[in-house]
Amino acid sequence: MSAIPVIMDVDTGTDDALALAYAVCSPKLDLLAATTVAGNVGIERATVNTLAVLDWLGAKNVPVHRGASRPLVRRHLDAAGFHHEGGLGGARIPDSKRQLGGDRGPAAIVRMANARPGEITLIALGPLTNVAIALNVEPRLPELLNGVVLMGGAFTVPGNTMPDGSVKGPGEAAPTAEFNIIVDPEAAEQVFAAPFKRLTAIGLDVTNQVALTSEDWDAVNTAADLEAPAALLREIGGHAFGTLARERFALHDPLAAAVAADHGLVGTELASVAVDTRGAEIGRTRMDGPGQVEVALHVDRERALHEFRSTLGLPTATN
Ligand code: BDR
Ligand code: CA
Repeated sequence: MSAIPVIMDVDTGTDDALALAYAVCSPKLDLLAATTVAGNVGIERATVNTLAVLDWLGAKNVPVHRGASRPLVRRHLDAAGFHHEGGLGGARIPDSKRQLGGDRGPAAIVRMANARPGEITLIALGPLTNVAIALNVEPRLPELLNGVVLMGGAFTVPGNTMPDGSVKGPGEAAPTAEFNIIVDPEAAEQVFAAPFKRLTAIGLDVTNQVALTSEDWDAVNTAADLEAPAALLREIGGHAFGTLARERFALHDPLAAAVAADHGLVGTELASVAVDTRGAEIGRTRMDGPGQVEVALHVDRERALHEFRSTLGLPTATN
């Protein structure tokens, strides 16, 4: 089977970086380009990080197109506290010296979709600002793409981001919104309403179930020789596993990329998706009756983890 041509829209970010690594390494995907969007970090940093990660992976041929610097109608909320100030968990990865792609993110998406009608899958891993802009300037985008797989939403589980963009503090009720949606809820509302041939939502319902562990972290830190993709985890994992002392690192964005390669990794329900764009539950995603969005509610956790670990060539954890 030939590789699926994909564009990745990213706000690189630690887990975006691992998703890029998955896409570069997977024989099932042909990464045509990356477009960047303000999300985990501002647009400048997201773009610098994306170039640096692709160069680290030896993918200097993948063009990077800078996209939206802020949500459609709101100020930008970042997640630097979670991904570390530079967004890559304190990684020591050299900056890239190469040039950006000539057109901006949404324009690049529209151009490539027009050049290969019906072929390309868009994997959206940040706030949906670029996708909404691309939809607005090219209303035929839904028919020009093969489909969209997006990481976003929390449908049957709590969210991960408070209305002010912070994480839940002690004694606070669990948030209802997921980060990518709450950063640009108006964009998300437009994307969920668009008539894509196939729109798959990979939310926290499934991504929280698929996580690397401290054993994976120990394994990359004790292995003698690591190829670039596994070494990327050693670089970006320090903030999560070290500073924040987390025992697991959820593969939010990598799972969406893996689903683009193999939809069978998740079980979905078709629904309309409504997004709260105001009020106490701003950013909440609700399954709202019959519709065409494939909302992932189940995941083959072991197969997804195996797919990710083997594709990146991660060393085997010892326990
Ligand atoms: C999503 O938010 C970002 O912080 C991650 O990169 C991922 O795309 C998870 O809620
Ligand atoms: Ca992301």
